[in-house]
Amino acid sequence: MSKQKEKILVVEDERHMREIIKMLLEQEGFDVLTAADGTQGIQSLESEIFNLVITDIRMPGVDGFGILKRAREISPDTAIIMITAFGTMESTVEAMKMGAYGYVHKPFKIDEIRIMVNKALDKQKMQRQLSLLRQRAEAGTDENIVARSPRMKEILRMLPRVAESRASVLITGESGTGKDLIANAIHNLGPRKDANFVAINCANLPEGLLESELFGYMRGAFTGAAQNKQGYFEVADKGTLFLDEIAEMSVQLQSKLLRVIETGTFRRLGSTTDITVEVRILSATNKDLKEAVRNGSFREDLFYRLNAIPVHLPPLRERKEDIPALIEHFLKKREKEKRFGKGALELLINHTWRGNIRELENIVERILLFSDQDVISVQDVPDEITGDCSGRQRHLDEIGNGFALETLLEGLEKDYLLKALGQSGGRKAEAAKLLGLSFRSFRHRLAKYDIG
Ligand SMILES: Nc1ncnc2c1ncn2[C@@H]1O[C@H](COP(=O)(O)OP(=O)(O)O)[C@@H](O)[C@H]1O
Ligand SMILES: [Mg+2]
Repeated sequence: MSKQKEKILVVEDERHMREIIKMLLEQEGFDVLTAADGTQGIQSLESEIFNLVITDIRMPGVDGFGILKRAREISPDTAIIMITAFGTMESTVEAMKMGAYGYVHKPFKIDEIRIMVNKALDKQKMQRQLSLLRQRAEAGTDENIVARSPRMKEILRMLPRVAESRASVLITGESGTGKDLIANAIHNLGPRKDANFVAINCANLPEGLLESELFGYMRGAFTGAAQNKQGYFEVADKGTLFLDEIAEMSVQLQSKLLRVIETGTFRRLGSTTDITVEVRILSATNKDLKEAVRNGSFREDLFYRLNAIPVHLPPLRERKEDIPALIEHFLKKREKEKRFGKGALELLINHTWRGNIRELENIVERILLFSDQDVISVQDVPDEITGDCSGRQRHLDEIGNGFALETLLEGLEKDYLLKALGQSGGRKAEAAKLLGLSFRSFRHRLAKYDIG
């Protein structure tokens, strides 16, 4: 296996020494550039990126420390090995403090340099992998959100910026479209991730209880208040409070909520002490909150407060491209080495999914439970799914007639290409951006479908 050549810069004023090191490293398969003094070395550092620099410490003009310092500034990922004359312990300690990877004493054995170079490069590789891993871990739930459709991709694209902000977010969408998932992601991707994420479902609790849960209470504030209790607002301080099914909140409680949002202070029930908190509010609903404002069941001023950033999750039937990827995601989650055959997949893609992704996951779970096949076929799909596309027989017929999954997906793809072109007024570069495609691949697809 041929590995990509790693680049090494050798800065050494003694010509003989320079040539020996260069030859040795080239034999090891590295790409080696040399510089005869510090000034030349810095020029090279400024014009190329090296994996590693080996530099003599003692040189006229810019010395090894000059190289080290400049390298740390302009290319902090480059590993540095220093060459010292024997018996200058002090300067090597100094070099390590300044971030050198290591040093070799002159005169050195050839193996010494070879081993140190390889170690330094290994460490560099590991650090790169670690930082990638860390990035992925910090992204948290992000990679668990499946998004193939342009609309979901767009939501994922803006998610990090939404997470950075402290503005309220109102997440709308039918039940099962991923509102909880997105709320969690907004918290986990943002600066509040180490503080609490507190979720409360406004539909589950009677009004009085919801109020005492939100604001907390003092012993004796009402019958049954046996001790002092912190409310969710306190628990969520510096973090995030997620108010799910916000449309179900009573108008009285809406007023109290609005006051907390506006002033940042509230009192526990039965207390006269103001408590100040700093909480980011996310809320979610599957209702049309604007309609609720119109018919008077939701306060308009609160609506605007909550809706600073609207995030709408489209129903699954409007983003069918996500379905195959979601199914794969669920299979992986269950560590199943199974796959859905074309016919079965087609049935699932065509289903209306009133329960959206939650329903899809349940069905996949059920199919996996009852099927022993490696490849899931039409027969494994429950009747309720086949039912709403006018029966299994029709599907079998269609498959028999050569109606293939590709055709269906191609139809979808073409639709999106045309829609994007429409939205961008025919400007291709813009349409490509809308779809999250490179211009090249966008053009390629247009050609595939004979779109001008
Ligand atoms: N884009 C997605 N990728 C992967 N899983 C998803 C996605 N959207 C939703 N889910 C999963 O579907 C289920 C329902 O999502 P949830 O966030 O509870 O929906 P909602 O709050 O809108 O009712 C959850 O198990 C969730 O993890
Ligand atoms: Mg939910």
